[in-house]
Amino acid sequence: MTPIPDPHSDLSIELNADEAALLDELPQLQGVGQSRRDFMVASAVGGLGLFASNLLAKEAALAGMPLAADAAVATIKAQNVVQVALTINGSPQTLELDSRVVLLDALRERLGLTGSKKGCDQGQCGACTVIVNGERRLACLTLVASLEGGEVTTIEGLADGDRLHPMQAAFIKHDGFQCGYCTPGQICSAVGMLEEARRGDVSHVTGDVARPVHRLTDDEIRERMSGNICRCGAYPGIVAAVQEVHSGRQTAQTWQFATQAQLAAVRKEDDHAAV
Ligand code: FES
Ligand code: FES
Repeated sequence: MTPIPDPHSDLSIELNADEAALLDELPQLQGVGQSRRDFMVASAVGGLGLFASNLLAKEAALAGMPLAADAAVATIKAQNVVQVALTINGSPQTLELDSRVVLLDALRERLGLTGSKKGCDQGQCGACTVIVNGERRLACLTLVASLEGGEVTTIEGLADGDRLHPMQAAFIKHDGFQCGYCTPGQICSAVGMLEEARRGDVSHVTGDVARPVHRLTDDEIRERMSGNICRCGAYPGIVAAVQEVHSGRQTAQTWQFATQAQLAAVRKEDDHAAV
């Protein structure tokens, strides 16, 4: 047991090793106006065991970690489980999960749909963008529990068999990516954004918000896609790809695969250099 001296109280508190360890893991309590001393006193009065179990259960559930076989933890786990029926990429799914699980984690960890990427996990980068009921949505900020009856489309669901979605093909044609990490989110966002524009939604750079925008300028595209960050800076290609799909105006591809003759010439030069 670890005795905790309390200079302001007559309460004599003793923590066992598990409780002392838990206390060390809770520095955030000090940041929300509750000192460690208050916490210890409250815990001593209210029963630290149950309080600790609750906190650990929540943390474990949110992290998707296996929970300890403890009666209090099991009760809390059971209280938080919800069943959600939804359609993902055209296939009906019924998921049973903790009510606090976000769509991004369910897609990646439960369903193996790892196309949607986790960048910031706090709504800042757009890497996790998917399409929910026809609108783009940040999967890292969307609770699965809020999607009962909903339709989710991820990057895996955009192509029609072997035929790429026009936006996917345009990204390849215009070299709209480098490392590709942001690309699934960029493409889902672009598809959803063009739908918004078709509906007549205005943006921050729309000149006259009283008139629907039918023709998106490059500035409109940049503004409407500004929630999707590309660390590689592939923005010129992204704008060109979105513009081509939006306008239907084909523009020339600026790169091409090397021919067999070109590859053979390069190999020959390498062989000469090595001799
Ligand atoms: S991972 Fe969702 S916005 Fe960054
Ligand atoms: S292509 Fe690398 S982050 Fe966008």
